[in-house]
Amino acid sequence: MLFSNLKLNDDEPVYIQIKTYIRDMISKGLIPNNSKLPSTRELSLFLNVSRNSIIATYDELKAEGLIYSVSGKGTFVNSENFISTTPWSINWSNLENDYSKSANELDIVKNEIPWSSDLISFKSISPDGELFDIEELKKSFLNRISLESHKLLNYGYAKGYKPLIDYLLNYMKEKGVDTTNKDILITNGFTEGFDMILSSFTVPGDTIICENPTHNTSIKLMKTHGLKMQGVDIDENGLNFNMLESKISANREKIKFAYITPSYHNPTGTVMMPEDRYNFYKIMRKHNIAIIEDGFNEELLYNSSHIFPICSLDNKNNGVIYIGSFSKILFPGLRIGWIFADKHVIDKLESVKRCRSIHTSFLDQAILFDYLKNDAFEKYIKKIRKVYGDKFNLAYECAKEHILHEYILGDGGLHLFIKLKNIDSRKLLNRCYKKKVIFMPGDLFSVDGKGHDTLRLGFSRLTHEEIEKGIKIIGETVREMD
Ligand SMILES: Cc1ncc(COP(=O)(O)O)c(C=O)c1O
Repeated sequence: MLFSNLKLNDDEPVYIQIKTYIRDMISKGLIPNNSKLPSTRELSLFLNVSRNSIIATYDELKAEGLIYSVSGKGTFVNSENFISTTPWSINWSNLENDYSKSANELDIVKNEIPWSSDLISFKSISPDGELFDIEELKKSFLNRISLESHKLLNYGYAKGYKPLIDYLLNYMKEKGVDTTNKDILITNGFTEGFDMILSSFTVPGDTIICENPTHNTSIKLMKTHGLKMQGVDIDENGLNFNMLESKISANREKIKFAYITPSYHNPTGTVMMPEDRYNFYKIMRKHNIAIIEDGFNEELLYNSSHIFPICSLDNKNNGVIYIGSFSKILFPGLRIGWIFADKHVIDKLESVKRCRSIHTSFLDQAILFDYLKNDAFEKYIKKIRKVYGDKFNLAYECAKEHILHEYILGDGGLHLFIKLKNIDSRKLLNRCYKKKVIFMPGDLFSVDGKGHDTLRLGFSRLTHEEIEKGIKIIGETVREMD
């Protein structure tokens, strides 16, 4: 309590002692500017002195301009011109470590052209928020908060909310995966899951085999963990298996993992065919290289039936860690993803999760679980497949017609990938920006500084008119540069 240390004596008038005390506290900044002082009544009771003494104290402090009264509200501190603060400036740049430097350097949100409402932006591959089933989500929220608010608002388990884990284990079974000896840990999206695996099973200098190009956030995470990447090209023929074999032979000792996104790969949008999935799995198994499978977008297949994830080939073995996320179909703002892996791996990661953030929000997990378990989810998936499927077809046709290209990749999902004919996509971006159209230049997804003649077009949040108009502008600009 503020006045607990004030010991009154008989040598000086009480009001002077209290004034000196308050003055001293204000000068040290211990009673901050504009903070409220106790009322004269409260303070007189607390200090066991007459109320008149406190009134006299406050009158003197007011006369000195150190406090002021607001009618009906109370008495407040005015220390603005009283505290002389000598400037103190830590040099944070000197304290910053390599991890922060690298995260800042690689932060494309800070370093690339920002979104603004007057632009047609093909940058984003986030879901269109207008399609979210908010009424159903509200019901789920009310359901969970009325059924188990005490549990959800208290600390929970690091592994996650049990009903959601059970739901997702079953969800994995429906994808054709054997869940024997497997378990699930809930994470803050794919991003935290991947970060946790890298934190737990790699050391700086280890090598990761990955597709080239690949997900920009994954590149950033691998780099901030000090890992080396051996990229294997993806082009119109899919993954280059010869390159994969030769990169493994040349680097086998240093390779810790293979990271792969077989469905709606970001940025190419390609879906790996079942035979290729089998070959990839077989090669990794032969070389004893654990696989991290990024299953983030599997639900957005428009033109064919479900393709089994690579982890379904692993049966009762423990060679594949699968990271799932609903971020491209449901509420990325909830930040919920999951790691599906061998029980021993999950057991280790459980402690890592507890160590780094205790657990992912139980309220959010419970709302998502409630939403997923009713029919609304199925209906919603049907709706968005139709909406995004139409946008995909439109974007694909427009790009084919208007943009001079070497090839266009994309089998579904929320984006297309275009290889231009010897046109630098950064120069193209700068020109298009002047015409109010932006997109993702391909070098952002390259693990070896290439990809300068490629670009990614995300269309999920654009209208049909914007898709057509924007792609025509990109096409016309490419022709100007040809
Ligand atoms: C390849 C890939 N994996 C996963 C994700 C989802 O990440 P998160 O679940 O952290 O939102 C994305 C999002 O863009 C992605 O492109």
